[in-house]
Amino acid sequence: MFSIARSALRPSLARGLAASASRSYLHTLPALPYAYNALEPHISEAIMKLHHDKHHQAYVTGLNTAEESYAKAPSVKDQIALQAALKFNGGGHINHSLFWKNLAPVNEDGGKLESGALKSAIERDFGSVEDFKKKFNTTTAAIQGSGWGWLGYNSATKKLEIVTTANQDPLLSHTPIIGIDIWEHAFYLQYHNVKADYLTAIWNVINFKEAEKRFAEATI
Ligand SMILES: [Fe+2]
Repeated sequence: MFSIARSALRPSLARGLAASASRSYLHTLPALPYAYNALEPHISEAIMKLHHDKHHQAYVTGLNTAEESYAKAPSVKDQIALQAALKFNGGGHINHSLFWKNLAPVNEDGGKLESGALKSAIERDFGSVEDFKKKFNTTTAAIQGSGWGWLGYNSATKKLEIVTTANQDPLLSHTPIIGIDIWEHAFYLQYHNVKADYLTAIWNVINFKEAEKRFAEATI
């Protein structure tokens, strides 16, 4: 078997190999699993187009740029300087990729939570589905600035919990079951400054089938 120890290579050659390796792992914008107007009237076509094609694309482009720079960074200090860009753009890509999948048109089961393991766990941990939604919306609306509201599974307590993350920080403390984007770009064109109306409306298009799948995988 032929192999090259990285330490045996000239630094410039090693960096070149790392850079070409990173290029083969370029991240790409995932297609929306439904039409841009499929979530209307709850989320408008204009929001979905901008949100997916411009905002999510910007995180993908930023992540690829940051990874490329990281691979070429000449020192650990230069790599550390790129951590914020990796976290912000990588988190943005992870979060939005989850978000598109946890939405679904009303005529494709959006908003419908059937009886089963997830519904039972929500009722166990929050009292009722309605109480869960109320608590989720209150907690998420209180985020100062931009961030995400999550229904997450805590593998230590074996419970569902509502948590928030700031900016584009991904959810690392829990397994994400449902994530809702609370950046203004997610609702401002339609709901203006009334965050509460966006949060009330979005439950009509939450893909609980996807949430059930994530919950099943988290609790195996
Ligand atoms: Fe967003």
